[in-house]
Amino acid sequence: MAEEPDQLAALSRRLRALVAGTFGDRYQVRVVADRAGISRNTLSAALNARLGADRKDRKVPALRTLERIADVTGADVGPLEELREAALRQVDGVAPVSPGSPVWSEFATPPAGLADDLLVADFAYGIVEPLARGFVGRNRYIDAVEAAIEDTALPSGYILITGEPGIGKTSLMAELVRRRKWLHHFNVAASGASTTEAFLRNVCAQLIVRYHLDHTSLPPRAGRDGLFLLGLLGTAAARQDTPLVIVVDAIDEAADDGRPGINRLALPRQLPDNVYVVVTSRGRNAYELDADRIRHMEIGDDDEANQADLLLYVETFIEDNAERLADVLASAGQKSHDFAKRFLERSEGNFLYAVRVLPEIAGGELLWRGDIDDLPLGLREYYRRHWVTMRAADPELFDEVHQPVILGFAILHQTTAEIIAQTLSLPLHPVRTAVATWQEFLNRGRPRADGHPVYRIYHKSFLDFLSTTAGIDAVEKRLLDFVDDAVEWDDE
Ligand SMILES: Nc1ncnc2c1ncn2[C@@H]1O[C@H](COP(=O)(O)OP(=O)(O)OP(=O)(O)O)[C@@H](O)[C@H]1O
Ligand SMILES: [Mg+2]
Repeated sequence: MAEEPDQLAALSRRLRALVAGTFGDRYQVRVVADRAGISRNTLSAALNARLGADRKDRKVPALRTLERIADVTGADVGPLEELREAALRQVDGVAPVSPGSPVWSEFATPPAGLADDLLVADFAYGIVEPLARGFVGRNRYIDAVEAAIEDTALPSGYILITGEPGIGKTSLMAELVRRRKWLHHFNVAASGASTTEAFLRNVCAQLIVRYHLDHTSLPPRAGRDGLFLLGLLGTAAARQDTPLVIVVDAIDEAADDGRPGINRLALPRQLPDNVYVVVTSRGRNAYELDADRIRHMEIGDDDEANQADLLLYVETFIEDNAERLADVLASAGQKSHDFAKRFLERSEGNFLYAVRVLPEIAGGELLWRGDIDDLPLGLREYYRRHWVTMRAADPELFDEVHQPVILGFAILHQTTAEIIAQTLSLPLHPVRTAVATWQEFLNRGRPRADGHPVYRIYHKSFLDFLSTTAGIDAVEKRLLDFVDDAVEWDDE
């Protein structure tokens, strides 16, 4: 398997991305594994082993790893070695991502009394860095946010950014946080971080650390309403001339406390001078932010700027995967630019669509006839087709295991394979296999105390799709029946 130098360069770019930390991203593993003709699991294990090795001394463990891959797979070690050498050359030019990443190093050693309230490290590793990694474009939107903050006609206030699911709001916020180091909070539906209390305490703690405010811990009232936050904001803003900016992603995913006349997350109606809160939300009407000054900005799927950014993303992908896409481009009779443009139409301007569908085309996993008009139209149609394709492969297994398992995750939000198996009365092994099969649609979180990893549906758009999928009511009933049987109800 002699590799052309440019193929090796493309492969090593993928490896570099892996080494730079996108290790959780199965897609990357898949690309390299498929090209090298080895099993994905073996490659994952091998890369893990290599990444854990001492950088100075890595050649020996790396070589040993390759030999092990060759042993296990019966592959020829020569081409693997070539691949590794090309990857290492790339990796040498890239600074390793250290745990002291600039996004949160400032918050790494807070007063002990604040450590539990700060979510900066969680967001850095879970959201900011992963999303910032493959980030492209968005300069027009970034400029617009900055212009609003600098606009003297807006002495303080909210900058509300809206857009459909998967258009890239969270990614944009992650990039702003990474570039500008603005204080921040990311809401993830039905997670602990999306409560009003978690938000207030996180942002108050960030303010205290950044502005050296005179607190070593937060009083209980800091998490109850917005007053304590307002006090800190006023004090901090008065200490500096530059604007104080807070990013709040996905207010629509924040818990709704149902308190009339009070904003979600207890966001204050009025902000002190020079304080700006950049808020994102899916629909403008889905959640009304009540405030004195709001500057609204929409990321529209048809916006010229959105289309240009997405085109850049698609073209970069095509370039990076030229060889793997050669057959597709040829059979579709498309030059790559035409392909990219027509792909854009099918994506309905949605980033998440491109992120999911392009790798499937390149990997030959998408069932389509090679005609671009055959691609699913929009994200929802993509989910629907994926669902149908998965079922067609083995309807019985799908109906009895895969469907209840995935719908179970949708209902329980974050849980383990073990709990799903128990609550749905399914044998554990097939449940674990279903989880492995659907891993690209599940985010894996920190393991629980019992060592079992916790999973959640990877994106709200898929959760939305699942929540309208036939069968969800039946799965919900099975879960409720389990609870009913397991709990001794006090009848009195
Ligand atoms: N500018 C970008 N560059 C590269 N990839 C992007 C960009 N914007 C979005 N993406 C990709 O698209 C995916 C979806 O984007 P994101 O989660 O930011 O959308 P969203 O608007 O926040 O969606 P939701 O409303 O469901 O929260 C991301 O996981 C990321 O991989
Ligand atoms: Mg989002």
